[in-house]
Amino acid sequence: MQRSLILLKPDCVQRRLIGEVLSRFEAKGLQIVGLKMLQVTPELSRQHYAEHVEKPFYQSLEDFITSAPVVAIALEGLDAISVVREMLGATNGLKAAPGTLRGDYSSSRQMNLVHASDSEESAKRELALYFKPEEFCSYSLTLTPFMR
Ligand code: TYD
Ligand code: MG
Repeated sequence: MQRSLILLKPDCVQRRLIGEVLSRFEAKGLQIVGLKMLQVTPELSRQHYAEHVEKPFYQSLEDFITSAPVVAIALEGLDAISVVREMLGATNGLKAAPGTLRGDYSSSRQMNLVHASDSEESAKRELALYFKPEEFCSYSLTLTPFMR
């Protein structure tokens, strides 16, 4: 089992697509084990995007990611990290394949709806940026609609 850190970015929140995107992850069978809405600060942005801080697009990326709240999600599942990356599609919404989240909902390189960890190493680092250990909920799926 793996855990991945997902962010529903400000464009996702502003376009009221939170439910759409969460539904796709749930339908795939990924389990939500952490969920919160928060405002990303410039400091958190620099930590989150540490690998990009020196790049020319960074300031614009920071302005965007701090422009409205985001939803942080911890998703658990078999090979969750690569499964979620596949579901997102290419970084640039204009190039992302139809059927992927970015391909279906984004037409922008910057406003591409969703962030997801790209490796076990980054997942560990990013999960710790957004969640305290006690904020994760581990549970098994035991309920069926026919129980009372
Ligand atoms: P990156 O980690 O390369 O993409 P991904 O989100 O697919 O892991 O880049 C981080 C974010 O930075 C990306 O989601 C959108 C933004 N970005 C730009 O605005 N311009 C660019 O040229 C690149 C490469 C990324
Ligand atoms: Mg990345």
